[in-house]
Amino acid sequence: MKKEEAGKRIHTLRTELEKHNHNYYVLNKPEISDFEYDILLNELTTLEDKYPEFRKEDSPSNKVGSDITREFTQQQHSYPMLSLSNTYSEEELKEFDSRLKRSLGESFEYVCELKYDGVSISIIYKNGRMIAAVTRGDGTTGDVVTNNVRTIKSIPSLINSEDIPSDFVIRGEIYLPHKGFDMMNQKKIEKGEQAFANPRNAAAGTLKLLDSKIVAERPLDCFIYYVLGESLPSDSHYENMQTARSWGFRVPREITLCKNIDEVLAFTKYWDTERHNLPYDIDGVVVKINSLTQQQELGSTAKSPRWAIAYKFKAQQAETRLISVSFQVGRTGSITPVANLVPVQLAGTTVKRASLHNADQIALLDLHANDLLYVEKGGEIIPKIVGVNFEKREKGSQKIEFINNCPICGTPLVREESEANHYCPNSEGCPPQIKGRIKHFISRKAMDIDGLGEETVDLLYREKLIKNIADLYRLSEKDISVLERLGEKSASNIIASINKSKNRPFESLLFALGIRYVGETVARTIATYYNNIDSLIEAGIDDLLDIPEVGSSIANSIFNYFSKEQNREIIERLRLAGLNMESKRSESLRGNQLEGQSVVISGTFEKHSREQYKKMIEEYGGKNVSSISKNTSFMLGGENIGPSKLKKAKELGIKIISEIDFLTIIDNL
Ligand code: IVH
Repeated sequence: MKKEEAGKRIHTLRTELEKHNHNYYVLNKPEISDFEYDILLNELTTLEDKYPEFRKEDSPSNKVGSDITREFTQQQHSYPMLSLSNTYSEEELKEFDSRLKRSLGESFEYVCELKYDGVSISIIYKNGRMIAAVTRGDGTTGDVVTNNVRTIKSIPSLINSEDIPSDFVIRGEIYLPHKGFDMMNQKKIEKGEQAFANPRNAAAGTLKLLDSKIVAERPLDCFIYYVLGESLPSDSHYENMQTARSWGFRVPREITLCKNIDEVLAFTKYWDTERHNLPYDIDGVVVKINSLTQQQELGSTAKSPRWAIAYKFKAQQAETRLISVSFQVGRTGSITPVANLVPVQLAGTTVKRASLHNADQIALLDLHANDLLYVEKGGEIIPKIVGVNFEKREKGSQKIEFINNCPICGTPLVREESEANHYCPNSEGCPPQIKGRIKHFISRKAMDIDGLGEETVDLLYREKLIKNIADLYRLSEKDISVLERLGEKSASNIIASINKSKNRPFESLLFALGIRYVGETVARTIATYYNNIDSLIEAGIDDLLDIPEVGSSIANSIFNYFSKEQNREIIERLRLAGLNMESKRSESLRGNQLEGQSVVISGTFEKHSREQYKKMIEEYGGKNVSSISKNTSFMLGGENIGPSKLKKAKELGIKIISEIDFLTIIDNL
């Protein structure tokens, strides 16, 4: 490469890397994998070494990316927060060992730790008290996120121990365990919000939330990996970590003392496969010199210490050819493109298909027919197409285009502006949507009709015996026993489990209806708030928005569902079949003083919050509605009643009751 060309390439690489740093550290939305990032960074350092005249102090090769945002105050680190130099090869680990042997000229020990995949944090303690928690920022100064960090239970705010130095700093990694991440994403999906792509992004996003109350609801955790200070308990990093554990910090038991590089290599080899069994994500192993004196002797470069190195695991990757792209229709009508691949072995399984998610993903990959694709399995079990081998693309091959019509029923597809997915709007006439709804209805967490399987649903639909969920309750043993592969015995089992489902609680039925965005948790919340289907059917969007945790996507979706005539008809048929249309309120009912009464709340109150009054109305048998009509029994009015509500109440002659009178009625003063 000529000098001029090298200069241009260096400039391009720097701009690219700055962009990816911003995506990763500030937006928490990386567009490329760590491996791809490291390849670009490696190219930059190689070129800068070869052409030193282009070296620059603020090149991404010399400084760490910054997570600083405007919303927080900043604080300078008393010890800079450096990053680690990376390697993906055993050879380079051996070179690291030779380098240390040469530099130190004396014996030394290693400590091997897992490289937790989260966000780094620096926590400052004075006389055993946490006084500040600061993000890495640009390595010199970071954002102060103390209130958020205080919500993490495994980080002590006060240490009760004799042997603590008066001043010390803890360095650790805030992360989300898989279970907590799944729970959090499930809630997001149920609320119609976009899910986090992985636990690291979720942890980073959460740490930078401005409302600590929301942070407290998220199951963040923290592993610590370093203690800094003037008078630490020991010169051994390993010993200091054991002591920090006794102070109450979470130090994983996997931390291991290694006498030589062979023991280090055995550790990395073990965790390269064992990492898949951990309940949290790691992206490698960190190898450190144990003695703090030797660490100091080796020192650091501007970017990373010389006494430590990260050995990173490569996501397992394979190359295979695209056979075709098929488009699947889900029960809500959403269209998912799926790549059909020439079968390939990857991390112990055969991969034949991989989701392409949506139209944007196809465009991003610039997919063409017959392309040779890179398929990866990272921490996740699901294979992902990460790129195309453009060099091997066949000349003149056709670009893969997203479809315009439903592949099953031919209806033109729609895509809302705010949505990533295309939808088939023909919900009543599109077979996979109809069958999908029935399959969802019978599933375990919904109506739990275990005698019926997905294949039987397909068969019953094909035979025109069912075309919606209500038809299930019309089936007879005779209808089923005459069908291919189904005898009298299975027919009687199926009918028995359909009948048993009539006892499923109201909240399961609500979930089973398959209303978009109404997952298990949302269904449960709604069922406690509206304890019968009729009040839910009557509810307006504003009423629905009053339900805790219900946002506009869920409210609109519920409202739209019950606005459709055919859905209300199905509900009526389910009611006639004897399904539970109301919550068993015995546990939540505290009295019947408001039985059959419909109550509107307006204004502000002194003794209890609006939310609490809403709950009380339900607890005493009443129904809380948001707008006044002639059916309203009374209005519970506080200070500053809304003028339009006041006017309407007067016009219709609706009584206004004060909070004291209300509490007297329900005997709860
Ligand atoms: S030691 C001076 N140990 O990796 C270097 N870092 O790229 C101190 N990390 O910012 C880092 N697990 O957030 C260390 N066991 C571990 C780690 C670890 C994860 C993160 C840390 C750091 C980044 C370096």
